[in-house]
Amino acid sequence: MRLLILGRGKTGSLVAEAAAERKHQVRVAGAKENPACAALTPERLHDIDTVIDFTTPHAVVAHIEACVKAGKNMVVGTTGWYRDIDRIRGLVEQRGTGFIYAANFSVGVNLFFDVARAAAAALRHDYSGQIFERHHVHKKDAPSGTAIAIQQAIREASTRNEDLEITSFREGDVVGLHEVVLESPADRIYLCHDAKSRRGFAEGAVRAAEWLAGRKGFYDFKDVWREL
Ligand SMILES: NC(=O)c1ccc[n+]([C@@H]2O[C@H](COP(=O)([O-])OP(=O)(O)OC[C@H]3O[C@@H](n4cnc5c(N)ncnc54)[C@H](OP(=O)(O)O)[C@@H]3O)[C@@H](O)[C@H]2O)c1
Repeated sequence: MRLLILGRGKTGSLVAEAAAERKHQVRVAGAKENPACAALTPERLHDIDTVIDFTTPHAVVAHIEACVKAGKNMVVGTTGWYRDIDRIRGLVEQRGTGFIYAANFSVGVNLFFDVARAAAAALRHDYSGQIFERHHVHKKDAPSGTAIAIQQAIREASTRNEDLEITSFREGDVVGLHEVVLESPADRIYLCHDAKSRRGFAEGAVRAAEWLAGRKGFYDFKDVWREL
């Protein structure tokens, strides 16, 4: 595939590496090459199959709008834009492009969502719960998109209307640590996912782009990762 990776940061640069290893043709644009979406005009994108975005919450919505308008498939790893999700879904469906997003493209974290869903049964049995997330000090959004996705998975799987509280910590160079703690008068259950590197996100995003090839529609990675 011919891929354009948006973002030369910590994750985007690894996505470019993972894509090259999987024999894709890769072009990369960072902030300097893409002022006001200059790298995302229909002309600039004409030889690109799919755009993968790992940039910033501030920039990503304009990137999505430009790519979808140019008729290009997109994989979006950037978090912090989900208040626009219904409008973006409508745009994608109207333009007939393919779009997949995830707060977390790691297969392990998506498995962890299922573990959290199963553990939500505890909330019907005198347990209370909390979510903790830790990330490096440069992370721009809090709580993390992954913590919000865990919260949503637990809410959907339990019959309770109220969300578990999320507590965020920003420290050092932590790649991403998420914990669910369920507590009853008798015991405590700890669930934890600890990312050792960004490699899992990068490979998952490239494999999502491969899965999306030839497809139209708006997809959440948590619903399709088993098909990779
Ligand atoms: N879904 C997942 O699996 C996953 C995993 C990890 C991270 N993330 C998310 O991905 C995003 C990036 O994370 P990161 O840790 O890689 O951040 P980062 O190291 O700060 O990288 C962000 C990059 O975006 C570039 N950028 C900013 N505006 C741009 C624009 N308009 N066009 C092109 N590039 C632009 C920046 O370029 P300059 O350096 O030139 O400013 C920077 O290199 C965050 O939202 C994070 O939460 C998601």
